[in-house]
Amino acid sequence: MAAPPTVLILAAGQGTRMRSATPKVLHDLCGIPMVLWPVRAALAAGAGRVVVVDSPARALDGVLPEGVELTVQPQSDGTGGAARAAAGSIDPDAPVLVLSGDVPLVSAEAIGELLQAHAVGGAGATMATTVLDDPAGYGRVVRDAAGSVAQVVETKEPGDATPEQLEIREVNTGIYVFAGRTLLDALPRLTADNAQAELYLPQVLDILRRDGATVAAHVVDDERLVLGVNDRVALAHVRALAQRAICERHMLAGVTIVDPAGAVIDVDVQVGQDALIEPGCSLRGATTVGEAALIGPHTTAIDSYIGDGARVGPHTTVIDSRIGSRAQVRASWLERATLYDDVTVGPFAYLRPGALLRDGAKAGTFVEIKNSDIGAAAKVPHLSYIGDADVGEHTNLGAGTITANYDGRSKHRTTIGSGVRGGVDTSFVAPVTVGDDAYTAAGSVITQDIPAGALGVARARQHNVEGYTERRAADADRDDEQGS
Ligand code: UD1
Ligand code: CA
Repeated sequence: MAAPPTVLILAAGQGTRMRSATPKVLHDLCGIPMVLWPVRAALAAGAGRVVVVDSPARALDGVLPEGVELTVQPQSDGTGGAARAAAGSIDPDAPVLVLSGDVPLVSAEAIGELLQAHAVGGAGATMATTVLDDPAGYGRVVRDAAGSVAQVVETKEPGDATPEQLEIREVNTGIYVFAGRTLLDALPRLTADNAQAELYLPQVLDILRRDGATVAAHVVDDERLVLGVNDRVALAHVRALAQRAICERHMLAGVTIVDPAGAVIDVDVQVGQDALIEPGCSLRGATTVGEAALIGPHTTAIDSYIGDGARVGPHTTVIDSRIGSRAQVRASWLERATLYDDVTVGPFAYLRPGALLRDGAKAGTFVEIKNSDIGAAAKVPHLSYIGDADVGEHTNLGAGTITANYDGRSKHRTTIGSGVRGGVDTSFVAPVTVGDDAYTAAGSVITQDIPAGALGVARARQHNVEGYTERRAADADRDDEQGS
């Protein structure tokens, strides 16, 4: 067995064609930065050591998974300069696999096949190539009479390639395997005498040939695996391909996706068997959807957990939330909320960070809840704001319940026991505690604790002005007579 390859992932380029303040390789591709795609492929292919080449701004700090190394290319002097920057990580006795941070869809299998081709081919370097209908912008592969690679000519700027070479449709994918020692020997010999005045990594191939080695081409038949992303048009194209593959993986595992062409399902989303994804859904980030759940149509779930058999209704946005089994959420906005099983939400509820609805709880229409623990089977059915509160089991808060949690300086908690019956239009002025099985009278402003089992009444006593209407009418008649 050959030593496992050292993998260099070139990711320090400026990505000017993206026209973005964000480095190209950090643009999102199905929920993760583009550069993580080749990183993951390399790890899955059994890489010994993965070294990512970053720019001096170290934009990739904190982005790469544990164990993946980062090295800095001091100036942006081309792909050859990027490889030079990683020279210290190259083991002369192991093969070196070079990947590009902007060629994201390369698979572990394709990497394995390339490594295999290199191992058996006996060439000094093996370059992955593919044949494109529209090769614009890619380096073209010039073959010699024996079929080996004679040269790669660049086409990004005019001046490197002849008109005949521009007709070539076989392109360099930017993915290569070298013997470590050979690459280490060639890198210091790169020169920048080309149209871009940069160090071109493919010049290593010329050097190898001059030294008498051969350079083999390994043709990747499925060009989709090796498409480069240089601008946002290519990013959208590659995203569509990645999304299609993600959807196919779920469908083959037993998920119904009604309209895969329109679905947005990030790469790390998990979906249980027999789940049904209706049109227009976005399942983002670390979202997990349970078995036989129904999602959509037009639902967005971000970093959320949706339990088995849950139903997330139309036009709902779910962000960083956890939704339990058989929960029903309709036309609502959920952000970092946790919904246990059999919860009912909406329509038109706004569940903010820290909202926890325990089993069977309900947040009804025009209800806002944040940083609150709503007990099992407790109900907040209508027109309420519950913030910084603990609400016990089976409690029912009437329409228009408000927790006055903020006194202008700091937040205070409202603690409401279990089995409480809150009258409509109750305000709880926190901090305040309500005992189990207590009641509040409608329209009460509760500023003092209510003991268990008591009725809290905190409103002005009603008094009726008898004969008021008649008196008004009489006054009006008199005014009319005086006026005429
Ligand atoms: C490169 C190849 C081209 C190939 C194409 C495949 C060279 C000179 N050309 O062209 O033959 O067809 O990829 O996609 O290699 N990078 C650095 N430091 C730099 C410059 C680039 O790390 O100074 C990184 C970039 O972040 C990127 C990769 O190298 O991930 C490729 O750079 P890019 O400028 O996109 O090269 P291409 O013009 O696409
Ligand atoms: Ca590129």
